[in-house]
Amino acid sequence: LAVNASSHSGRKMSDTLFGVFFEEINHAGAGGLWAELVSNRGFEAGGPNTPSNIDPWSIIGNDSTIFVTTDRTSCFERNKVALRMEVLCGNEGSIICPVGGVGIYNPGYWGMNIEDGKQYKVVLYVRTLAAIKLSVSLASTDGLQNLASSIITTAELNTSNWTKVELLFTAKGSNAQSRLQLTTSNQGIIWFDQISVMPVDTYKGHGFRKELFAMVANLKPRFLRFPGGCFVEGEWLRNAFRWKETMVSWEERSGHFGDVWMYWTDDGLGYYEFLQLAEDLGASAVWVVNNAMESGVVPDSVVIVFNNNDVVGWRWRRATTMDTLDSIEFARGSPNSTWGLLRAAMGHPEPFELKYVAVGNEDCGKKNYRGNYLKFYYAIKAAYPDIKIITNCDGSSSPLDHPADMYDFHIYTSSNNLFSMSKQFDHTSRSGPKAFVSEYAVTGSDAGKGSLLAALGEAGFLMGLERNSDVVEMASYAPLFVNDNDRRWNPDAIVFNSWQQYGTPSYWVQQFFKESSGAIYFPSTIQANSSGSLISSAIVWENTEDNNKNIKIKIVNVGSNTVNLKISITGLQETINSSQSSITVLTSSNVMDENSFGAPNKVFPVENSLSNAGTEMNIVISPHS
Ligand code: AHR
Repeated sequence: LAVNASSHSGRKMSDTLFGVFFEEINHAGAGGLWAELVSNRGFEAGGPNTPSNIDPWSIIGNDSTIFVTTDRTSCFERNKVALRMEVLCGNEGSIICPVGGVGIYNPGYWGMNIEDGKQYKVVLYVRTLAAIKLSVSLASTDGLQNLASSIITTAELNTSNWTKVELLFTAKGSNAQSRLQLTTSNQGIIWFDQISVMPVDTYKGHGFRKELFAMVANLKPRFLRFPGGCFVEGEWLRNAFRWKETMVSWEERSGHFGDVWMYWTDDGLGYYEFLQLAEDLGASAVWVVNNAMESGVVPDSVVIVFNNNDVVGWRWRRATTMDTLDSIEFARGSPNSTWGLLRAAMGHPEPFELKYVAVGNEDCGKKNYRGNYLKFYYAIKAAYPDIKIITNCDGSSSPLDHPADMYDFHIYTSSNNLFSMSKQFDHTSRSGPKAFVSEYAVTGSDAGKGSLLAALGEAGFLMGLERNSDVVEMASYAPLFVNDNDRRWNPDAIVFNSWQQYGTPSYWVQQFFKESSGAIYFPSTIQANSSGSLISSAIVWENTEDNNKNIKIKIVNVGSNTVNLKISITGLQETINSSQSSITVLTSSNVMDENSFGAPNKVFPVENSLSNAGTEMNIVISPHS
């Protein structure tokens, strides 16, 4: 392996080469990164008509002791559904309530993780017509382990009107399968709405589950693409993500059913929270917007298909355009602007860094995409000339027929294919817009739920992107997260449940690239019998923490043979300090090996010191590594 590290052969790679793509898929946000523990906190998931399904809320008691339904009496105008609980037992002359009372419980997202000594903020809205003693508790699934509880006497609270109750619990035990219980032994009627349990200990208090946030932050992402994916548009327009619906306090958010990935989200993770997430990660926000467009020249009668199933007219598209301009003003406008003022009121007077807007997702082939896109493009450019606009149409093999700063490129394929696609951008025109590989992954039987084989194909592909980083500006793996209880898409980078998390081999591959953004790329060539199974890349970057210059050589071997490689580095100005050098290897005994909760580090990068590091060194490359 010859690495040419002379200064004239180096090329700086894009500062934003590697980032992350967050989509609300697999309960990535609701029941994942967003730390809210109650699922369906406003009882809206069953739809706006009542009586409705209250899933996953369940009833404690039976037909003779309790009657639970929903009605539309909430104090929140945007989400009128409230839960009505009629307790039939308890008073003199009536049935005696069971020990512990009757009521409702919420199991969260496949169990709430309650941890000993940690604090939880519980909020609920209550209304009763008579005095009722209500027990609010965090308990084990069988209700026997009481982890934290409080008694509220509704008469004291004068709850004939809606009253907000706030409690701060400190857990006196741990249980990853806990639930929130609201119980009473008093006869009467009680209404509930907007019930929340939030751990106090979230990242900077911003609501992000700390361990999951840390796993993303460890990738050092330079951008955050959000909130989808197909989630942005939905199968039906009524189920699309609407950022303005999230511009209110959490209690007032209507939530929505994501009909592509088929689950309800209370929209705690809204547009503001996504922008905050990008900022907390030190990443530039890439806002993917629904692409319906106003067209002044299209007559009223003309309809345009833009969602998967809906057909809409131009008036609606005009509203969507204005919506998008408003969303940019919300992120970047001064606190004197309409939307900037709201951002300031929500706690962020300084603008967020929003530099990229993607117009739609995978919509290029759809009728009228180009027309919609152009209206969008010119409207945004007129108001915000510096915003980089990303089209859904692939410009890697033929020139685009419309203006764009970048084009989306998505690829899901086999390991072999992706490995050979390391050459995908070798012949792409250098004069057009740049590529944004916003979704890539090995999928199908090569990948399972996240195999070493998949990760090796991806590693080869990423090295090709590094080599072509003069034309590839950004790249992100997809999907980022999966809650193991709701696998809508396999594989994924980070797997979690209510209390555990681990990285798949694909996650660990991305760790090898975390210094690449903005680094200097140097050409390297491999001469070997099995060179078709090998690919390499060499980068130099300066560590801002210790001002040390580092050289990193990455090699992928997708073959089944061990390779003895002699590495020669020419042209390097600096000397290599072998005592500070290391070799990190990601491999496993079987190429189909995966990580799991039981064996989270089965396929894991192992680092050792490299005492023979220098401009000439012999390295043994393991098979499938
Ligand atoms: O990453 C999963 C899905 O794959 C995305 O929602 C979509 O853009 C693509 O089809």
